[in-house]
Amino acid sequence: TRALVLNGPNLSRLGTREPEVYGSETFADLAAAVQGWAAELGLEVDVRQTDHEGELVGWLHEAVDTRCDVVLNPAAFTHYSYALRDAAAQVTGAGLRLVEVHLTNPYARETFRHHSVVGPVATGTVAGFGLTSYRLALSSLT
Ligand code: DQA
Repeated sequence: TRALVLNGPNLSRLGTREPEVYGSETFADLAAAVQGWAAELGLEVDVRQTDHEGELVGWLHEAVDTRCDVVLNPAAFTHYSYALRDAAAQVTGAGLRLVEVHLTNPYARETFRHHSVVGPVATGTVAGFGLTSYRLALSSLT
């Protein structure tokens, strides 16, 4: 099985970005951990990050066109991007799986993080386990 592991804005800054919230591991550490877990699970993954909404939308279109499942950390787009939600809806609407992931537990944070516009069109959501959120999401795709 092939899956795209897509990451939204500011996640390239892991390690230096609010380490008390997001931990000290870098995005390179995240990508390496994801590749290792994917190999164990027999998944082939492509790990990507962008700060641009349109690029993320394009990657979701690619997932539909190439028929691959998605692990998506939409970062701040989670809370307000209807464009991303509509693109995510096309993935699950095509019978593919899209797992929303978060490093932190958004419900334990600021009120504006309590709502996800992506959640209702995702297959499921894993949040609050740090990098392990990604491992749990990957294991749901096997
Ligand atoms: C996040 C949570 C979002 O609220 C935030 O904007 C992020 C990261 C997480 O992984 O915990 O950038 O998606």
